[in-house]
Amino acid sequence: MAPPFQRHIFVCTNRRPDGHPKGCCATKGAEEVRAAFKAELEKRGIKGQMRANAAGCLDTCAFGVSVVVYPEGVWYGGVKVEDVPAIVEEHLIGGKPVERLFMPLMKKAGS
Ligand code: FES
Repeated sequence: MAPPFQRHIFVCTNRRPDGHPKGCCATKGAEEVRAAFKAELEKRGIKGQMRANAAGCLDTCAFGVSVVVYPEGVWYGGVKVEDVPAIVEEHLIGGKPVERLFMPLMKKAGS
């Protein structure tokens, strides 16, 4: 049986206690970012093909809100609600990842 989703968008929604040295994506608006992905996928009629999942810490805390899209393995950092339409439109629908939102690790990898 084929997997039901073409892509998964994992959004770190990890929360750490206030004052933790690593910080966390939850305090940077991660739940709002995930909700924006879900709403945008629904609005575009692709909810059945792609899924925005809440994830635990993706170990890129300094770059949160951290988002990774599989199967490509494209990492986005500092994602804000207002960035979501561009990721959905250009990457998830158009097939062209949004380079301006790449995490530094993507740039180092030459992706
Ligand atoms: S808390 Fe989000 S990547 Fe670690």
